[in-house]
Amino acid sequence: MADFLTVSTAGLDAPDAYRLLTGAVVPRPIAWITTLGPNGVSNAAPFSSYNFIAHSPPMVAVNIALRDGELKDTARNIRATGEFVINVVTADTLDLMHECGAEFGPEVSEPERLNIALLPGQFVGAPRIAASPVHMECRLDRWIPLGQGINTLYIGEVLAFHLSTDVYDGRHIDSARLRPVARLGGPHYALIDNIVSRAARHTGARPRHTHVRPPASADDTGRS
Ligand SMILES: Cc1cc2nc3c(=O)[nH]c(=O)nc-3n(C[C@H](O)[C@H](O)[C@H](O)COP(=O)(O)O)c2cc1C
Repeated sequence: MADFLTVSTAGLDAPDAYRLLTGAVVPRPIAWITTLGPNGVSNAAPFSSYNFIAHSPPMVAVNIALRDGELKDTARNIRATGEFVINVVTADTLDLMHECGAEFGPEVSEPERLNIALLPGQFVGAPRIAASPVHMECRLDRWIPLGQGINTLYIGEVLAFHLSTDVYDGRHIDSARLRPVARLGGPHYALIDNIVSRAARHTGARPRHTHVRPPASADDTGRS
């Protein structure tokens, strides 16, 4: 049997917790977020503490940490404008996305500095990254400070998807064509080139519904 080392989180400092979480919660999708700064400076940065959290309406959440006690440009712009765009990272744009993770001052536009071609948002002021085949225009729903205040969760409602016909047939996004990039622990990424498929399993024990009705009342959330 394998030996295990047990690490209690009581007294675990933030860098150690970060190292364990980013190694254990894998693979992570990457939100390459574009925002517009107060004086019109476009900003682009990657965030992998990210996922979708609801689909009616479609909502996403991203955790943006403080940097040296200060808000990162993305967080500051989202708070100021209430808007952002999530661009999906693909094998073709991995290196460019990674460059955007470097620390640039708030006056520096990563898209300008790194020659990233942009398209205008249609529902929000933030731009979209032309080389990304999937963009989600988002309006900030709320932000929630977490724990000791290093982390804040930004929840956005997706107002529109923009989908390249290279990856979208009008109904499904083709994962193989999309070639999404995942974030692993440490300096590692994964390209998803080995997709396995399984048909959905249905036991027949209950009728199949593609849509689940919301609870009858707002309080009826299943909490006990
Ligand atoms: C792949 C990748 C994932 C990242 N994920 C996060 C994250 O989830 N939260 C976070 O605060 N920073 C994350 N970072 C670091 C930010 O991208 C970095 O601090 C960046 O400089 C922020 O830019 P900004 O100041 O323009 O917003 C990540 C970096 C990389 C390269």
